[in-house]
Amino acid sequence: MFNEMLPVKILKNIDEEYIEIIKPIIANKEFIKRKLYHHHENRSVYGHSLMVSLKSYHVAKKLGLDYKAAAIGGLLHDFYYKDWQTEEERKPLLESHGFVHPKEALENSKKIFPNLIDKKTANIIKRHMFPLTFIPPFYYESWLICFIDKYCSLEVFKTPKEWYKYVGLKKEEKNE
Ligand SMILES: [Fe+2]
Ligand SMILES: [Fe+2]
Repeated sequence: MFNEMLPVKILKNIDEEYIEIIKPIIANKEFIKRKLYHHHENRSVYGHSLMVSLKSYHVAKKLGLDYKAAAIGGLLHDFYYKDWQTEEERKPLLESHGFVHPKEALENSKKIFPNLIDKKTANIIKRHMFPLTFIPPFYYESWLICFIDKYCSLEVFKTPKEWYKYVGLKKEEKNE
């Protein structure tokens, strides 16, 4: 389990309406497992997804966008199947985590939360890695999560040794 603290500035921004929107997701057993998945440094996928979701929710609200889709899409954008950083197998570049996890996250979201995934939420999840994945987001809300995800991942730049993980690549194992 990660002993992580989300920034206070973020936590104090949680309001009743936001909790109502995300309740079915954060109470789900499968989603809770993401507390054990690494994102980067001391942040779990759970913590990272919550940050992206909450920031996107507030910005979407300010801009008069669909804040419900932003909150749900933000929370599920990295809802891929397994903790890829613990996998042994090395894959070809285009099959590596950075390229395939948006598609996996969408499949998994449709499977576990079929009632929460509409066209817009699906696009938010599937296109959030642009420009690494080549097709750009379609909706304003999808662009928003695409930017906020990157903004919330900036911590990774404090640790240059971890940069390869940001684009979902595994480091070459060296035989000593
Ligand atoms: Fe992602
Ligand atoms: Fe992310």
